[in-house]
Amino acid sequence: MEILHVSAECYPVAKAGGLGDVVGALPKYLNQLGHIAKVVMPMYRTKFLHANKWEVVHKGYTNMGTWWFEFTVIKEQTNSLGFDLYLIDINGLLDREKIYGYDDDAERFMAFQIAVLDWVSAWKHHPDVIHVHDHHMGLIPFMVKHSFKYAAIKNVPTVLTIHNAQYQGWLGWENIALIPEWDTWRWGMLDWKDTINPLASGIKCADKVTTVSPSYLAELQYMSNGLEALFEYEKGKCVGILNGIDADVWDPATDTYLNHHFSAADAEAGKAKSKMALCDAFDLDFEKPLIVFIGRLVGEKGADLLPQLIGDSFYFIGRRMNFLILGSGFPEVESGLAALKPLAQYDYNVYIGYNEGLSHQMYAGADFLLMPSRVEPCGLNQMYSMRYGTIPMVRRIGGLKDTVIDYGEKGGYGICYDQTAVGDISHAVWRAVELYRDKEAMATVRKRMMALDFSWENSVSKYADVYASVKR
Ligand code: ADP
Ligand code: GLC
Repeated sequence: MEILHVSAECYPVAKAGGLGDVVGALPKYLNQLGHIAKVVMPMYRTKFLHANKWEVVHKGYTNMGTWWFEFTVIKEQTNSLGFDLYLIDINGLLDREKIYGYDDDAERFMAFQIAVLDWVSAWKHHPDVIHVHDHHMGLIPFMVKHSFKYAAIKNVPTVLTIHNAQYQGWLGWENIALIPEWDTWRWGMLDWKDTINPLASGIKCADKVTTVSPSYLAELQYMSNGLEALFEYEKGKCVGILNGIDADVWDPATDTYLNHHFSAADAEAGKAKSKMALCDAFDLDFEKPLIVFIGRLVGEKGADLLPQLIGDSFYFIGRRMNFLILGSGFPEVESGLAALKPLAQYDYNVYIGYNEGLSHQMYAGADFLLMPSRVEPCGLNQMYSMRYGTIPMVRRIGGLKDTVIDYGEKGGYGICYDQTAVGDISHAVWRAVELYRDKEAMATVRKRMMALDFSWENSVSKYADVYASVKR
């Protein structure tokens, strides 16, 4: 089957989080199964754009409301990612360095979605499925079905994957003229609680909806930022499929960001060298367990609790551990973490910002990885960390619940807790410190984790089943 993925992110072209990782890997594994999976995304001004060769495959002229614009579709010439990659250039809107964070993001992604559908309508054949990711692309299923302009592709099935339902792309009804002329009897397919809600519209109009773990799908029916009733109503077309990890990119034996490679057989030595390098670089104590956090510093990830958690851990458990944090996000969390630095020298450090290489080095060099998420649709960090022999300390929620078993249970290998609350998390920190004292138990848990297989091979056929179920 031919599947066109439409996404705002795709690693290594442009990534802000796990969405990029998934869209950069899933199509490659679908192709290995014998499908033809392609990706189309906005042409931001990224390093990848300048470092690769491109050919122009389509030029178009279209409108978003009263604004007419030209767009160009380019294709990467060497298939270096393992799938056909297309970028759409819209001057003045998409040609920026960052993916998100501009005042006109709604118009940027709206114009992109229009350009995608104009382009696909001009294909000589049609794809078997258009697979859209998250709210940024959420209006495509509606437009395919109900915008008169796209009558030629009206019967192409659409699949929506929800990586995160917290963000829904809400738009006031005053923006309605941006959507290419549509059958106004269908206004209810755009609306949720008196606004245009692109995520809700995607759920209503897509032929199938997937979420990135089975537990997250179950949670959405009672906790989905206002869409609970919709998830309950549409549950018949929703499927939870656990993400995989790209085992080619995330392999401690070959990872190009690492100076010290290792596999399960020599993990103790390899990890020790990686830890030493991190401790040198960040002024930390090699002898103590190293607990890290990598991620967006936002409430969803429980990052707002980190400053108090670190302070409380030192105070109540003693200075028996190191913390190293990598992330960026809410200014108040960033400043809270920075303020701790002078108070906790040699046991704590923080890197505010996004640093792909450092993240890999931390998965490799840490002893434990903290994920106290309030919401975690899947979570990739815990799977990377386990492949790199680092014990995840996770709240039992969403994908974390589906991938980590507490080491206190039979065959377990992680540290789990029930609430995103400083008390629960510091108890987990105490358990980590105690576990670390027992070198034999650490080695057993590490071996168990590193033998787990979280690769895409396990999940990719479930996506193929979804496509087969909607094919016309
Ligand atoms: P989310 O997509 O919700 O942020 P995931 O766990 O699915 O969470 O994926 C996060 C991805 O982003 C991982 O690949 C992680 O290593 C990466 N990441 C997050 N923050 C940073 C950062 N500050 N620097 C480098 N990589 C980061
Ligand atoms: C989202 C979720 C995260 C998930 C990722 C990839 O960003 O927050 O849990 O792993 O998408 O699906």
